[in-house]
Amino acid sequence: MNFGEIAKTELHLHLEGAAPPTFIRWLAQEKNVSMDGVFDENGAYVWTTFVEFLATYERACEVLKTPEDFGRLVSAVLEEQARHGVVYTEHFLAPDFCGGGDLGAWKEYLAAMVEAAEASPVEARFISTCVRHMGPEQAKTTAKISAETAGGLLTGFGMGGDESQYSASDFTYAFDIAREAGLGLTSHAGEIEGPNSVAETLDALRPSRIGHGVRSIEDPALVARLANEGVVLEVCPGSNISLNVFPDLKAHSITALRDSGVQVTVSTDDPPYFHTDMTAEYKGLSEQLGWTQEDFDAINQTAMKAAFCDEATRSKLMAMFNGA
Ligand code: HPA
Ligand code: ZN
Repeated sequence: MNFGEIAKTELHLHLEGAAPPTFIRWLAQEKNVSMDGVFDENGAYVWTTFVEFLATYERACEVLKTPEDFGRLVSAVLEEQARHGVVYTEHFLAPDFCGGGDLGAWKEYLAAMVEAAEASPVEARFISTCVRHMGPEQAKTTAKISAETAGGLLTGFGMGGDESQYSASDFTYAFDIAREAGLGLTSHAGEIEGPNSVAETLDALRPSRIGHGVRSIEDPALVARLANEGVVLEVCPGSNISLNVFPDLKAHSITALRDSGVQVTVSTDDPPYFHTDMTAEYKGLSEQLGWTQEDFDAINQTAMKAAFCDEATRSKLMAMFNGA
């Protein structure tokens, strides 16, 4: 199999976290912003723990200052995804880094990103994302400006950040605003924290998808609930291994979850930080877990069913993954 050429969906990708290091260094030079401590001597992002990863991520975001910067970032990331066979994607992006919650500024950033996405052959949608460790008040602001701009390519609302901070119910109001606006909902849970974080997230925020959710495997009742309720997991195996959630792919819960009837999809999360890409993810699943083209078709069909897009786009893309 040529793993790069297989057509792929990617639902869980943080736009800022997908920024190629060369792109960030180039912008830093152009803007004279110090990136001391962000890159190692080989030019890779520096971090060891999850919290350090989030800190480096926010440092790198300091060079992304204008709508034009974000437009250029969308183009660079979509170009990279296209090289790995991605035909449909959703990008998480945090309005906190796009004008700090100001509606007028956010509109300009979003317009630049939409323009870049529309120029790409990859079909893309955006999921505006609140940052959990920035707290519920900031999340409300993010939800409000997302609701104001919902539609077009902005089709989802999500939450990332440090899972150990606050409880899911602190963000109910933000998610209610986004739901009211018709945005699809997803939240990170069960990656760093255990299965309780997934159950609490489902109860409090009622998302149709969970970012990661891979530690659900520790609670059989929760696994049954995910299967029964048809909750779709955005699984990012390479990210989980990089963050030591599992030692390797063979020990990863994706197989057990799938075999229990849970709907799984595959994405990269923050590829340069976690030294992965979609080609490497598919290669690993094939070579280490024996996945076949049929298995890849199945996860991509699941992803298109769960995608935050209009029905015409869904059926157009679904036709690519029907195994024909
Ligand atoms: N996990 C949680 N929050 C994040 C991530 C991630 O991988 N990337 C950016 N924000
Ligand atoms: Zn993520």
